Amino acid sequence: MTHALVLGASGGIGAALADHLSADHDVTRLSRSDDGLDVTDEASVEAALADLAPVDIAFVATGILAPEGAEPEKSLDAIAAEALARTFAVNAIGPALVLKHLAPKLTDAARVGVLTARVGSIGDNRMGGWYAYRAAKAAANQITHGAAIEIGRKRKGAVVVALHPGTVETPFTAGYKAKKVTPTEAAANLVRVLTELAPEDTGGFFDYAGERIEW
Ligand SMILES: NC(=O)c1ccc[n+]([C@@H]2O[C@H](COP(=O)([O-])OP(=O)(O)OC[C@H]3O[C@@H](n4cnc5c(N)ncnc54)[C@H](OP(=O)(O)O)[C@@H]3O)[C@@H](O)[C@H]2O)c1
Repeated sequence: MTHALVLGASGGIGAALADHLSADHDVTRLSRSDDGLDVTDEASVEAALADLAPVDIAFVATGILAPEGAEPEKSLDAIAAEALARTFAVNAIGPALVLKHLAPKLTDAARVGVLTARVGSIGDNRMGGWYAYRAAKAAANQITHGAAIEIGRKRKGAVVVALHPGTVETPFTAGYKAKKVTPTEAAANLVRVLTELAPEDTGGFFDYAGERIEW
């Protein structure tokens, strides 16, 4: 059986991804709540990934909208250095450390989806605000793109992409009124997109329908 890995398996989307993948994969679920995995701490990431069997498909489903007790900035006035740094640590440095330690574990045709967000697109930003979250996700997109190039040199069949899951009903979006899909639906979409992409698509930024998102 093929081996799937979900980081952030305690989260709304991560749990649904792990459940969905368990139909036809052996799934390794890793999370902060259940395993003490802290993606901002390299020793923690390294230890969590050290003894993994080769990975065929992986999702990095960790992330924060804002640090605990804070919310995304509505204006420049609300920017706070500590909140910016924490948001970057979880949303950009976290995936970077994961990709660093995950790369050697990947099979030749592995699929890796890093959950970023459409609001991390600079070209698509027409509203401003949400400085830390947007910028950290843009950084995660760049890191994923670079990692895809490097991983693709050795693993010609690999697909490493940044994915926007849609607006999904999880604790993440609890305070926001918007049309949301269920985590189950989002997970099915994300698995379909990641498995249907071709090696030529590696390094891209795609939404839940498989459409490319501008950087
Ligand atoms: N929901 C949406 O509409 C939406 C839209 C666009 C993008 N996204 C992205 O999708 C991803 C998953 O979101 P979600 O809606 O599933 O959010 P969620 O339910 O709040 O789950 C977030 C996950 O991130 C983990 N996490 C947070 N900080 C961590 C750290 N320092 N180290 C390790 N794990 C950490 C949490 O772990 P614990 O709970 O165990 O602490 C949890 O598993 C995020 O990257 C988010 O930016 C979501």
